[in-house]
Amino acid sequence: MATTPVRPGFETRAIHAGQAPDPRTGAVVPPIYATSTFAQDGVGGLREGYEYSRSANPTRTALEECLASLEGGTRGFAFASGLAAEDTLLRTVCAPGDHVVVPDDAYGGSFRLFDKVLQPWGLQHTSVALSDLDAARAAIRPGATKVVWVETPTNPLLGIADLEALAAIAHEAGALLVVDNTFASPYLQQPLALGADVVVHSTTKYCGGHSDVIGGALVVRDDELGDQLTFMQNAVGAVAGPFDAWLVLRGLRTLAVRMERHCDNAEQVADFLTTRAEVAEVLFPGLPEHSGHAIAQRQMRRFGGMVSFRLAGGEEAALAVAERCRVFILAESLGGVESLVEHPGRMTHVSVAGSALEVPDDLVRLSVGIETAADLVADLAQALDGSSA
Ligand SMILES: Cc1ncc(COP(=O)(O)O)c(C=O)c1O
Repeated sequence: MATTPVRPGFETRAIHAGQAPDPRTGAVVPPIYATSTFAQDGVGGLREGYEYSRSANPTRTALEECLASLEGGTRGFAFASGLAAEDTLLRTVCAPGDHVVVPDDAYGGSFRLFDKVLQPWGLQHTSVALSDLDAARAAIRPGATKVVWVETPTNPLLGIADLEALAAIAHEAGALLVVDNTFASPYLQQPLALGADVVVHSTTKYCGGHSDVIGGALVVRDDELGDQLTFMQNAVGAVAGPFDAWLVLRGLRTLAVRMERHCDNAEQVADFLTTRAEVAEVLFPGLPEHSGHAIAQRQMRRFGGMVSFRLAGGEEAALAVAERCRVFILAESLGGVESLVEHPGRMTHVSVAGSALEVPDDLVRLSVGIETAADLVADLAQALDGSSA
């Protein structure tokens, strides 16, 4: 009886996709091909297609194949940063005169790219609350809108958008749905399976997982779009170098186990914060009272490692809590094994001040790491105890 091949599980693909032992030496870890160019066997006689490392490099290929597999796509592309990936994508699928719908809550640097770089280039944008499907539909300019761009969960307010519904809205208008999946990681959410056309990552975050590399990625399913991105990745050249690609790939191998612990710890931290009088509101999609809880439950495996909260004592209290933490390190970024705390209004989201994306000044954002949960809770307790002193 013929057996249907079973697709290996997520953890197996994280460790093996794109990472077969090196055919020459048997090295079980993909080598770092620190080379800019490749010898040709006669003019145009390329070995396995490798010519010059901007176009392709075997270490980067290993990462790109692994990312494509984890996101359920067919083609992956690794870049020097998340923003480099975003810029390459947008200049591939949009032209001057086009329009994009962007979230009213998003990473400040992504908004800065839309507002300060691509708008002067001729790409118009409308920011809208993408958890409100009627508002998303109304923001579309028929014929001109080429992309609906969404983050879910959002940075920093942890809003949730319904990806299946947004894919239908985008496709009805002939636009692509692009999902920045940085906060969820491919372990918790796979947007392509929900109808998205492109997944974007800042691999700097959970994919890399150890706060030691800056990187970005795109994953698609459509071959024609894949070919356009291959052209643009090489033409623009904002690629991941082999050392950086290797670090991200090493991170991916443990993504599943790290994410489980991030989620466990974030749930404990969020529950603790809800018990504190100093905290006016806890923003975490795992809480039943979160407005996006039911959608998150449907489209995510778990609720992630990011928790934000607002202080009853306003900005001064928020700054005091951020500065009083000891285990949580006061720093930008997220998704590493160590816990980080920040004040988005003064740190990661300064670039949206005065725009529709401005964040509340009483907001603190936590990237909950994989340390002992009791130590994280105790650290927040002492920081809150002193915040109004
Ligand atoms: C959700 C999200 N998208 C994109 C980026 C940009 O990525 P990078 O800093 O790797 O350029 C970030 C960075 O913080 C982010 O949080």
